[in-house]
Amino acid sequence: MNTQEKILIDRLAAEHTLEGPELLALLENRTPEGAEYLFEQARKVRHAIYGHDVYLRGLIEFTNYCKNDCYYCGIRNSNRKAERYRLTKEQILECCTQGYELGFRTFVLQGGEDPFFTDQKMADIVSAIKEAYPDCAVTLSIGERSRASYRILREAGADRYLLRHETANADHYAKLHPPSLSLENRKKCLWDLKELGYQVGCGFMVGSPYQTNRHLVDDLLFIQELKPHMVGIGPFIPHSQTPFAAQPAGTLELTLYLLGIIRLLLPKVLLPATTALGTIHPTGREAGILAGANVVMPNLSPVSVRRKYMLYDNKICTGDEAAECRCCLTGRMNRIGYNLVVSRGDYPNQ
Ligand code: 5AD
Ligand code: FES
Repeated sequence: MNTQEKILIDRLAAEHTLEGPELLALLENRTPEGAEYLFEQARKVRHAIYGHDVYLRGLIEFTNYCKNDCYYCGIRNSNRKAERYRLTKEQILECCTQGYELGFRTFVLQGGEDPFFTDQKMADIVSAIKEAYPDCAVTLSIGERSRASYRILREAGADRYLLRHETANADHYAKLHPPSLSLENRKKCLWDLKELGYQVGCGFMVGSPYQTNRHLVDDLLFIQELKPHMVGIGPFIPHSQTPFAAQPAGTLELTLYLLGIIRLLLPKVLLPATTALGTIHPTGREAGILAGANVVMPNLSPVSVRRKYMLYDNKICTGDEAAECRCCLTGRMNRIGYNLVVSRGDYPNQ
């Protein structure tokens, strides 16, 4: 580790902020020994707030219809080979029942931007889950909607909302998305969600095509500005039926380094070790926890649809029952000295 890297990590750990040029210097000059030091500091902060607890979220991928055409995503509208499906309200509730028995107390409803799920239909599903499981949190991850729509869903009982910003640099955003989508609207959605009282998560892919360290600095500065409750990051992984099929995947190394930085920037943040991280490396999620993450989000979707929610190639756990993943993750966390807990796992408010 060079002295500049240590000085910057120490400042980040003490002050929980760095300026853009300092973040850039950290990313540009990072070393393996510096990374270990960064993760130690990140774990210290994480242990002070969350101990060795790891929160569980049950991901219910309830529709893979999507009206958008993001260049990186396997369920983009133009992918005619994707077999489309929608779960019914009854099927979604069945996933929750199974999840509840397995100790899940947060259900994340994730889907493509599917116009079939109107405000009324979504509000009905959310309120049915909250009625059946009043001790559980409901998180939505259904993309860009109007402020009015977000309000209706909040009033129906949704507690949290995940909307990755994908990249906080407008030029880079335009290289990953068709012209119908804009960073400006993405950010507006995030601010709207925050104002409406959701616990909000933003995030981005690491190593997405054309991404530079300067773009990553923009992401980190945006995160410092938004102060989200959650940040979801994972490596970009190419999907064979997208325009980015031949692009290289993001690396474990850079993803872990960024997890460490984000933990120090926002000590209390809820930070998942994502499925994509587990996909690029057999123990990627464990490494993510050891770099400062404190959440895992296994799949609760029926096994019959798992293979159809392919955002990227080789996604793990598509053949495993929810109970298997729960069990597998318990073992994985225990082996590195952490425990999955039965809890809503809210953002600490004091
Ligand atoms: N590789 C990694 N992550 C992806 N996502 C979509 N496509 C890919 C891919 N090819 C991520 C996006 C999205 C989240 C649901 O999944 O960041 O917000
Ligand atoms: Fe799904 Fe390990 S988490 S099988």
